[in-house]
Amino acid sequence: MLLAFSTWPEIEAYLARSKTVVIPIGSTEQHGPTGLLGTDWLCPEIIAHRAEAAATAELLVAPTFAVGMAQHHLGFPGSISLRPSTMIAAIRDWSMSLHAHGFERLYWLNGHGGNVATIEAAFSEIYSEASYAGRPRGFACKLKNWWDLKGVNRLCTDLFPEGHGSHATPSEIAVTQAAYPHAIKSANYAPRIAATGPIREAADFRARYPDGRMGSDPGQASPDKGQTIIAAAVQALREDVRVFAESGL
Ligand code: NI
Repeated sequence: MLLAFSTWPEIEAYLARSKTVVIPIGSTEQHGPTGLLGTDWLCPEIIAHRAEAAATAELLVAPTFAVGMAQHHLGFPGSISLRPSTMIAAIRDWSMSLHAHGFERLYWLNGHGGNVATIEAAFSEIYSEASYAGRPRGFACKLKNWWDLKGVNRLCTDLFPEGHGSHATPSEIAVTQAAYPHAIKSANYAPRIAATGPIREAADFRARYPDGRMGSDPGQASPDKGQTIIAAAVQALREDVRVFAESGL
């Protein structure tokens, strides 16, 4: 089930069967000269929606949280960022809205490494409220980066042993190419593999990484490789959500 295409009576009925919901979360930010600005929310959404469509056991997917903590990309047009404090507040309100209706297991499937610290801080805020209020146990949030789903990191390394990098990677570009082939772009990358280094503020990022890539050669991406990654991620996600729904782990 996709929450956006459900009615409230359908969600009420779902809650009688399951307390688990999957929420894709990402970022709207530059991904080099050929990567889509939506790459980091498209990837978890593509994987979650494919898992939902293929599910034998029921899977509910909430709307995608599509803007994240991307201040370091603001030197590139089109990037949109929430500061950490804003994002923490937004994740809290999303979570508490769902929890108020009875959801007890919130599985956040993340597509942006820059979100991780802020999502974890948001979970701490949510758990703190429960602790101070003396609420009963049972409510759980889980953060999973799509590339950390079982077997996916290894697969990406096998597909792209050189020039994978950490931003505008061939694996994330390939996932978007597989799902949206009409939006494939091309460019001549110079150098072929981009530089690596630290992440600080926007002006420093643009000076260090002039075309937006970090350590990557996205020219290796292809729709076929993207389909292979999606298939592995979908299978792993279904299993990971099943375990989370049953055990909270
Ligand atoms: Ni990305």
